[in-house]
Amino acid sequence: MAFSIEVNGMAYVVDVDGDTPLLWVLRDVLGLTGTKFGCGKALCGACTVHQDGVAIRSCITPIDGIGTSRITTIEAIGETAVGSRVQKAWLDREVVQCGYCQSGQIMSAAALLATNPRPTDNDIDDAMSGNICRCGTYVRIRDAIKQAVQSDGQRG
Ligand code: FES
Ligand code: FES
Repeated sequence: MAFSIEVNGMAYVVDVDGDTPLLWVLRDVLGLTGTKFGCGKALCGACTVHQDGVAIRSCITPIDGIGTSRITTIEAIGETAVGSRVQKAWLDREVVQCGYCQSGQIMSAAALLATNPRPTDNDIDDAMSGNICRCGTYVRIRDAIKQAVQSDGQRG
């Protein structure tokens, strides 16, 4: 079945079964491989993308539930003001170790800061708790989120 979807500001028509997870459409049909497969059960956060700015787990989101919503992936998050600040902070703080989880981490962090520009530590913990990092980069992730918050303040 054909589905019209918008990803990173581009319109696509994809011919897949309606229950195909968005993750596989992004990776296998559109070639956007920055979004990762981890668990396939909404437990690890590696597959996190934005649906109308909200962080979702693309591994459990069927393509027939996307409709006219706007999907944003790690390939385009740097084009937003928040995403750009988050990515810079990730680089400055040298967050990444193996990197596998980091697309999802950045997408969750960007979704948090887009709706809550001044998150408390508890807000950060709540927003990031579903993103697992087997390399244990959690301290640097939190530092980077705080840097992204501060850099927003410096911009005025
Ligand atoms: S692959 Fe989607 S949450 Fe783990
Ligand atoms: S950086 Fe390796 S899993 Fe997070």
